[in-house]
Amino acid sequence: MKGNLDTFFKPKSIAVVGASKNPTKIGHAALKNILISDYECKIYPINPHEKEILGLRCYTKVAEVPGSIDVVLISVPAKLVPQILSECVKKQVKYVIIISSGFSEIGDHSLENELRQIINNTHIRVLGPNTMGYKNASDGLDASFVFGVPRKGNVALISQSGALGIGMIYLANNEFVGVSKIIGVGNKLDIDDDDLIDYFSTDPETKVIGLYIEGIKDGRAFMNSIKACHKPVLVVKAGRSAAGARATASHTGSMAGSDKIYSAAIKQAGGIRCRDVVELFDMAQALAGQPPAMGNRIGIITNGGGLGILLTDACEANGLQIPKLSAKTFKKIDKILPDLIKPNNPIDLVADAGFERYEAATSALLEDPNIDGVIVASVHGGYARPREFTGAILKMVRQRKLHETYKKPLLATWVGGREFEDLVWDLKAAGVPIYPSSWRTARSMHALYLEGERLKREENED
Ligand code: ACO
Repeated sequence: MKGNLDTFFKPKSIAVVGASKNPTKIGHAALKNILISDYECKIYPINPHEKEILGLRCYTKVAEVPGSIDVVLISVPAKLVPQILSECVKKQVKYVIIISSGFSEIGDHSLENELRQIINNTHIRVLGPNTMGYKNASDGLDASFVFGVPRKGNVALISQSGALGIGMIYLANNEFVGVSKIIGVGNKLDIDDDDLIDYFSTDPETKVIGLYIEGIKDGRAFMNSIKACHKPVLVVKAGRSAAGARATASHTGSMAGSDKIYSAAIKQAGGIRCRDVVELFDMAQALAGQPPAMGNRIGIITNGGGLGILLTDACEANGLQIPKLSAKTFKKIDKILPDLIKPNNPIDLVADAGFERYEAATSALLEDPNIDGVIVASVHGGYARPREFTGAILKMVRQRKLHETYKKPLLATWVGGREFEDLVWDLKAAGVPIYPSSWRTARSMHALYLEGERLKREENED
């Protein structure tokens, strides 16, 4: 039975079956993560050999726990899981997270089928098996056994790979991408990507949804969920190559399927396919922090002609246009350039460009109704001034309420070294996506354009 996953992410009571005093065991780590969460709920360790674990009273089995249990985490060897799942059904537990591995991912389909039969025609919902669980950063609950505390924000992440999911937490923190929830779906016995897309589509804490998938169990449901979703959905689909497809089968027991069909179906449903998780974070950063581009006409500002051309090529290759400047914008920018240079798009502010040139050119493009998005680039060209480049953008973001005033996205690009890096962090911390690559910048602007198109479609359908 499908249903809202609100209680799953915000339970009033959680039990850990296989909780252990041994700090090297996964059942210990899972219990501790729940215990140290900044989240109020009842916690029940379950282990037939213990009276107390981490200061909490321990129960011998699920049935012994007084009252109802919203979520049970299972961390015992695979062969014990069917019996415990049956006990959970009997106890009318609402949700079960099966951390244990040793099912279809190692070719044991019969054990996984046994679990399927146990939950058939019941109301219980199951996450996993072979999952890390989830971290609900919006509410401060860590119902996983893994390290890593995500920065709170508005990107929901769904990963079929637990380890990659953990890596994504650290990557997100590094990139200043805030996370609402991150969840490992493992073998997807029951709770599937489509259930989670449906939930995150109405989750007020989530603005962007990102998925790493290896296989899809119900293609139609997956596509329908993306189509019905009111938010951008970014999809990294692994197993493009024949060898990659073989690897997915032994990792999560998934059939990779035809890659071309996946690409076409994701696009048709309105999702955005990303080549890898770095691209997913690039795009998530842009979509979470910037307004969408309501058209594909992009203005480029640079202090290095070469970087401007690279950005132009990358934008054109990604379906974006770099139109000629209107007479009004030409005039505004012409005023601030040295006499020998005439403004074009890309606008070359010349290598020594400082605060005033960057600020004036960026304003002119944002004010131009023929421009839908702006890319501001800087090369640390010896005597160029990166501090003035980032300072101009920061000032516009902080003082001029950039997004409310212009409703246009602004992305930045940089080429340089250490001295520039600290300034890059300042921009990221202020929510301005900045990339060390013209291609990555153009791909992210492409995502903002696709989001603009999705919103227009949504409006037309209403
Ligand atoms: N009810 C409750 N507790 C029980 C029961 C029972 N019926 N039977 C045994 N236990 C206790 C055990 O006594 C033990 O506690 P103890 O340490 O006090 O003795 C505890 O449950 C755990 O049982 P063990 O047999 O010690 O199992 P262990 O912890 O070594 O392994 C585990 C269990 C972690 C589930 C393992 O089988 C497994 O699947 N590991 C892989 C998990 C994984 O990686 N999942 C994918 C995540 S995604 C990612 O890759 C990040």
